[in-house]
This record gives sequence, C-alpha cells and structure tokens, in this order.
Amino acid sequence: MSELCITKQGSARSPNETKHWRPLIHFTPAKNWINDPNGLVFYDDKFHLFFQHNPFGAAWGNMSWGHAVSEDLIHWTELDVAIPSDPDNLGYIFSGSTVVDVQNSSGLQSTEHPPLVALYTNHSTDNVQMQSIAVSTDGGVYWQKYRGNPVIPNPGIKDFRDPKVFWHAASEKWIMILAAGQNIKFYQSDNLIGWQFVSCFGEDQGCHLGEWECPDLFELPTTNGQSKWVLLVSINPGGPNSGSGTQYFIGNFDGSHFNAEHDDVRWLDFGPDNYAGVTWDGLQQFENRRIYVAWMSNWSYASELPTSPWRGAMTIPRELRLQQCGSEYLISSAPVREIEALLKNIVSIESTDTLTAGLPSDKAYRINFQFGFNKNDKPLLSFENELGEKLIIKYLPKLNKIVMDRRNAGWNLKLWTMPLIEANVQSRQFDSENASTLSGQLIVDMSSIELFWHDGTTSLTANVFPTEAFNKITFSTESSAKKSLTVDIIEAKHEA
Ligand code: FRU
Repeated sequence: MSELCITKQGSARSPNETKHWRPLIHFTPAKNWINDPNGLVFYDDKFHLFFQHNPFGAAWGNMSWGHAVSEDLIHWTELDVAIPSDPDNLGYIFSGSTVVDVQNSSGLQSTEHPPLVALYTNHSTDNVQMQSIAVSTDGGVYWQKYRGNPVIPNPGIKDFRDPKVFWHAASEKWIMILAAGQNIKFYQSDNLIGWQFVSCFGEDQGCHLGEWECPDLFELPTTNGQSKWVLLVSINPGGPNSGSGTQYFIGNFDGSHFNAEHDDVRWLDFGPDNYAGVTWDGLQQFENRRIYVAWMSNWSYASELPTSPWRGAMTIPRELRLQQCGSEYLISSAPVREIEALLKNIVSIESTDTLTAGLPSDKAYRINFQFGFNKNDKPLLSFENELGEKLIIKYLPKLNKIVMDRRNAGWNLKLWTMPLIEANVQSRQFDSENASTLSGQLIVDMSSIELFWHDGTTSLTANVFPTEAFNKITFSTESSAKKSLTVDIIEAKHEA
C-alpha cells in the first residue's frame, strides 16, 4: 500500500503511473523520448509527422526518425520507426525535412508513385554533421538510405544541421536551408542530390544568444493580394523566457537570397515549451494553408519531465498567417480548424462579476474568453484543483504584458527553470486608448496549456503538471468589466 498514492477521489495510483498527464489531442509516442518534428509532409491525403525519437529509452539518444500519420492533425497513428540510427555507418539521424519529388528529378523513382525524399542530418559517432537523403516509394513506411550519402559533406563547421527543403517554382530549383553555427545557409539543387551553396543569412540579424537550429522558409499571402517570405529559426538557449525559443524574420526571397525587412527580434511563441517547430510541405498545391507544429518542451528541462512511459509531446498544429499591423506584418497563429468539428460546449457564461466554472478532469478543452478593456484593471484567469494548486494567467494592461505563473501549479522540481513566464503583447494594432474588448483562446490538455491572445500575434505554450486535474476556473477583474467565458470539450475519438 505504501507504494500507492490515494487520490482525493479515493482511487489508487502507482507513483510511476502518469497516465493522467497523457495528452488526449496532442501527439505523444506510445513510449520513450521524442524531440523535434521532422519531415512534415502531406501525401496521399495524410499528414505525416516524423520526429526525433529514441526508440530504446526515455532520454535523448539513438536518434532516429519516428513516424505517425493523421487525417485531421488531431488523431495520430504511430507507425514503426521510419529511419533508424546507423552508428556504424554515417551515424545518428538528426532533424530534417521530406519533399514529394513529383517530377522524379532525383531519378530515384522506381514505381508509378512520385517518391518521398527525406533530407536529414547524419551526426557521426565522432561528432561530424553532414546532410544525407533517403527515399520511400511506399508512402513513407520503408526508407532506403541513398548509397551516395552524404549529399553535402561537412565543410568544417561543427554545428551544421537540420536541412529544410522545398521546391521554388519561380527559379525551378530545389532550395535547402540549414543551420550553420548562428547563421542560415542557402543551397540550390536540380535533383535533390547535387547541391550548390548560394548564400548565408543572419550574421548581424536576430537573436544570437544561442545556437541556431531547425530553420524553415515559406511564403505567406499578405492582405493586399501579394506575399512575403517568412524565415523561422529556433534558438537554444536565448529564447524569450531563456532556454529554447523560436524567432522569425519577415522579408523576401529571390531563389538565392533572403532579406529581412525589419531589425527587431520577433518571437513566434513566448512560452517556454514551443521549440524546433516547422511547417508541412506538400499541402499548398491542394489548399493554401501553412500548418506548423513544434516540440512542446524546452532543452533546459526536457530530460526531467515527469511523464512515463513517454517523454515529450507536440504542440497543437497551428495555422500561420500574416497579420497586418499598421505598416508592418506580424505572424499570427491559431489552432488548426480541424478542432472545430470536435467541440462540445459545456459552459457559456458572462457577467460583470467574477466568473467561475467547473472544468472536466478527463478531457481536453478549449476556453474562449473576452473582457472589456480598462487600462487600470488586472484581468486574471485562475485554474485550480482541490489540492490548492493554481495556474494563473494575468494581463497587465499598462505594460501590455501577459504573465503566466506556474509556480504553484503542481510538479515543479527545482529544475523547472521557468516558473514565471512573461509575454509582451505583440500586436501593433492594439491601441489602448481606443480598445474596448480583448479576447483570447486557450487549449488545455492534461499537462499543457496554449494561449492565443487576441489577434493571435502573441501566443504562449507551457507544460504544466498539476497533481490532480484542475477542476475549476475563475475569471476576475478588479473593475466591473464585462467578461465572458466559454468552455468546449475537444472530444477526441481515441479517449479511453
Ligand atoms: C533541435 C536539435 C536539432 C538536432 C536535433 C537532435 O532540438 O538540437 O538541431 O538536429 O535536435 O536531436
């Protein structure tokens, strides 16, 4: 009996059993370690998610590409390891991307279907990083490593990794970008095998407080019918709350050079648990959506997270858009619309008094909130459980800042280095003199919370491990501002 802990409801739980923290609508592996999403590709009506995976343990190691597929970005089926590590040959399989070689430009096609080509970093046992490729002609299940690997040998740079490849229609070239130290290198190719270096970006731009990793480059439409290019660059450490984070640059790309149109550092997400995110390739020919997913963790404490038998999860997939703010553009993000079909409303309240609602303990849910803006106010959302644990989200209008406090929200070993998280609200559109209402959206799923503030140009993703699920939310303001709150269960099909 001493081995077991009795929960408030009287049920017994083994101390190692962390099923109650297993996300219901976020991807987690059945067991063992994961980190970055890799090789995101939409192919044969399925979203493929490959990921950095240790198939043999709950710590980083034996890096391989795990594999899962989904039709709606919410329900995932995990498949066998796609590209296993090969320490005796070129080494471990680090992050990279996958493209559909529609024209068979690689000449690697042996069936009627256009092959999938994965481009990844090999990290050798003596720590040399180089770029390699593998081919799949059965839709991503079986991968054949190319015999001529590496396709880009190491040029004498220690950190030289994470190739993201896409077809650039205007120049009729394949483009590869990868992280080299604290820069991004650009390459071109006609066939995915021979690559020419063309340019480098980043010397004096962006944040340089850590290693640059996992870049992505894509075009997004602007509101005036044109488009701009977006470069994502993950950085570790040096993120907005220290630790890992993802910065982005907006600018133009002519097929060989990227130029940013701003000097300030911009963050895709201000929470501690959004890293190495990239976007799906292969979808844009069917529908014009740019969908992003990230590893929901932080290198500062990833290996300490208290879940078992899995360690690591992905964020909710998000649609990225350009949002015009005055004369500038910012990126806004929102959970993918596939969630809408799974919603079931359980709470819908509004008042000028404090709002209180019960929360389901065994479901993922979405909360929408709105409040009348008053710059002397301090709107506060508090998630609570019977044990007195609390997760608090506060908005400070005068500073235009959001604070998330997870100090008393459950598991918080000393290793939990970012208990108090701050986000400066990004939207340049926000005009505190004239604003009348502000709103936001939260996705809560057993051990994570994702906040999308107002127009989505500020988001904040955080892991949180309450000992028991939060079963109550209160929404208060110091003034008698009008407030509204809805809670919708996100009913996942595979729930037990
Ligand atoms: C980012 C990263 C990548 C690398 C991979 C190794 O989280 O460090 O740069 O390819 O993880 O697992």
